[in-house]
Amino acid sequence: MTMIRTRIKSIAHYVPEHVVTNHDLTKYMDTSDEWIRERTGIEERRYAHKHKETTTTMAARAAEKAIQQAGISKEDIDFIIFATLSPDYYFPGCGVLLQRELGITNTEVGALDIRNQCSGFVYGLSVADKFIQTGTYKNILLVGSEKHSMGLDFRTEGRGVTVIFGDGAGACILQPTEEEGRGVLTTHLHSDGTNAEELAMINPGSHGGYHLDDVDFGYPDSNDPGGIFVTQKMVDDHMLGPNMTGQLVFKTAVTKFPAVIQEALDATGYQSSDIDMLIPHQANLRISAFVQKKLGLRDDQVYNNIQKYGNTTAASIPIAMSEAHEEGKIKDGDLVCIAAFGSGFTWGSALIRW
Ligand code: UT7
Repeated sequence: MTMIRTRIKSIAHYVPEHVVTNHDLTKYMDTSDEWIRERTGIEERRYAHKHKETTTTMAARAAEKAIQQAGISKEDIDFIIFATLSPDYYFPGCGVLLQRELGITNTEVGALDIRNQCSGFVYGLSVADKFIQTGTYKNILLVGSEKHSMGLDFRTEGRGVTVIFGDGAGACILQPTEEEGRGVLTTHLHSDGTNAEELAMINPGSHGGYHLDDVDFGYPDSNDPGGIFVTQKMVDDHMLGPNMTGQLVFKTAVTKFPAVIQEALDATGYQSSDIDMLIPHQANLRISAFVQKKLGLRDDQVYNNIQKYGNTTAASIPIAMSEAHEEGKIKDGDLVCIAAFGSGFTWGSALIRW
């Protein structure tokens, strides 16, 4: 019996026009181009237009290109998977907003929202792969998109997080293939919630202080019915942004990345030398360099573009994959590996025969 696998039929990306250099950030906070380059490799990032661009509209621009390149019409899409940590609304998720933005009126289409932050694209690919292998769907639109610029703290207090992140979107069309040896060969997903708050945006949320009673969120000490989502103290004390224990995340990332890539190689019987292109989630150029060294890969076997875009979380892998493909660095028949680690903590990998 022929095996059905998932093929990345097309891949595209969209980044906003507005370039923000490291030097630009020094106008708002005590930082320097030298510090940011040395610690992260980032030289500049893109910021979406405050009012005219959202996580969904950026995703739609990338999706339109992917749909066109796949040679299908938007009405052929039978499932949407949207990975983001910076959605337009708290709910509903961006999946249905993307459906509307693209003008897809077919209500047979399902829209799934993925909340796995930096690992969102790998998680989304893994879910899509199962739907395609079982014959459920034939044209899945998978996107990762982020508008980080809306929620960053531009004071010096926020510099450890703010300088890293950028905005952008990547999208692909996934289809079944029966071509021998082609497509997604394996996917591997992991999670460990022990350090959930070490890379998180906690407020607003339903936590009510649970697990976090050493922090004063300004909850009134009363038995009035109903919980409180946002307090004035959260606004006044700048508690409505992301926080990160950078060194813990860094140390964990450099062990999980190589391990989860090795897991994908072991599952398929390949060696790291067989990888034609590794696309690591663009978290920090030093993390990518460490992973490259650990796996003994040459420079031409690893693609990085964090220098231009910063860390775009769920969008970083599809943006990098799209650029690598455009530049001819991923070709038909290549063995492509993607891997991610981030908030949760969650991490994962996939091996794809292009
Ligand atoms: O994709 C999601 C996953 N996220 C990651 O993978 C991020 C992983 N972590 C990292 O990439 C690094 O930990 C960072 C780039 C975030 C930080 O680099 P670091 O080498 O771990 O620096 P640090 O946090 O230990 O801070 C060192 C110093 C501190 O000053 P003192 O206490 O030594 O005086 C910070 O206050 O650097 C200071 N600092 C800055 N200085 C200038 C922190 N951020 C900045 C900044 N500009 N932007």
